[in-house]
Amino acid sequence: MKIAVIGAGYVGLVTGACLANLGNDVICVDIDDEKVSNLRKGVIPFFEPGLRDMVEMNLAQKRLMFTTDSELAIMNSEVIFIAVGTPSGNNGKADLSAVFAVADHIAKYVDSYKVIIVKSTVPVGTGYKIRDHIKQKMKKPVDFDVVSNPEFLREGEAVNDFIMPDRIVIGVDNGKAKDAMLALYRPVERTGKPILVTDVKSSELIKYASNAMLATRISFMNELSHLCEKVGADVKVIAKGIGLDSRIGPRFLQAGIGYGGSCFPKDVRALIEVMKEHGCSVKLLESVESVNEAQKLSLLPKIQKLVPDLKGKKVAIWGLSFKPKTDDMREAPSIVVIRELQELGAEIHAFDPVSERNAKQIFENVHYADTPFGALEGAHCLVVVTEWDLFRELDKDRMKKLMAEPNVVDGRNIYEPGEMRSLGFNYIGVGRG
Ligand SMILES: NC(=O)c1ccc[n+]([C@@H]2O[C@H](COP(=O)([O-])OP(=O)(O)OC[C@H]3O[C@@H](n4cnc5c(N)ncnc54)[C@H](O)[C@@H]3O)[C@@H](O)[C@H]2O)c1
Repeated sequence: MKIAVIGAGYVGLVTGACLANLGNDVICVDIDDEKVSNLRKGVIPFFEPGLRDMVEMNLAQKRLMFTTDSELAIMNSEVIFIAVGTPSGNNGKADLSAVFAVADHIAKYVDSYKVIIVKSTVPVGTGYKIRDHIKQKMKKPVDFDVVSNPEFLREGEAVNDFIMPDRIVIGVDNGKAKDAMLALYRPVERTGKPILVTDVKSSELIKYASNAMLATRISFMNELSHLCEKVGADVKVIAKGIGLDSRIGPRFLQAGIGYGGSCFPKDVRALIEVMKEHGCSVKLLESVESVNEAQKLSLLPKIQKLVPDLKGKKVAIWGLSFKPKTDDMREAPSIVVIRELQELGAEIHAFDPVSERNAKQIFENVHYADTPFGALEGAHCLVVVTEWDLFRELDKDRMKKLMAEPNVVDGRNIYEPGEMRSLGFNYIGVGRG
């Protein structure tokens, strides 16, 4: 198929590269000149395992190209993915300005039947608004369909998630668009993964409902972790105990320092706003959000318990991205933790395997170490913020020797309290009794 992908960020670039890798001819469009000229040389603007090789190979084989020229892309494709960002607007609603800017371009240049696929996460009802907007703005009537095809990829696992997704959700109104979508995803369906075909609105809502459900599980466990700390129970064991119930399952039950990233926070907020607009109760989701905001601050009293006066004290931060295997810093809990520590006068020495470049655009006065041990030299406290695997088995004796004081606040529960204490650390986790 001839495919245009508009927006070459995390979602658009992965989608474009993976579809090219399946033999399609893909043109990726972005408004960012520098990003496009780098992508043409195979330089990927973010860290995503496996993506660079795929982009390089498909560039070399000329199935994948990058441009800023949306006219060229729109005119030369049968299907057009919209994969631009939909960040939180000031009022918490999804900011759809980039989506409608793309719709304007499609209306301007569309010259033959196209399937327009909305991959960006958009509030329920947006697909129809895009359809009406394009119809209104197009110069001469041309047949087209707008399809909802939300993306569920996880950063850090994005390439695998595209090839082996849990499911593909397609929201369509008619058979012609449905056939085109099924043809597009036939190679992925061959892996045995289910395709759920539904109406446009339900498809749009499935995306928000998925993220809101996952965020709810996290906030539930985080809130429970406070009781565990009061009564001496272990939230990790509780997660295991309830996760063994097949009605619940084990995933997204880890207590920690709250969810972040480019999706959960903004999507929970946007869903709350849509529900309010329709006069629905939002008690549950507002609580999910407020528990999360409070959780990001919950490490501070723990750090102060170990280091009561942080003024001039060196604090080592391990992990900056919102989760491991990505360099994405959008709404990362590290931002809240580091800013609060700096307010209290602490000197921050951070290590993250891939996020330093992005972190430098956010923080001032943070020292970056080349290794986890480098950040620990002379530290009065180590704070584990992101659970990169490499932190799990590091030499604990060496860690302790490097530190000024052996204080560890583990925001991701990657260590066992008993073991850490027996090695001589003053250790506090989250909800570990
Ligand atoms: N990142 C994720 O893990 C993830 C997962 C699932 C869904 N989503 C959703 O997918 C969408 C995209 O997210 P992302 O993380 O890829 O965003 P992103 O910010 O990484 O990428 C968006 C890209 O669109 C480009 N862009 C903006 N306006 C444009 C225009 N008018 N024409 C062409 N390009 C334009 C930007 O320059 C940027 O490169 C969002 O709606 C998001 O909620 C993201």
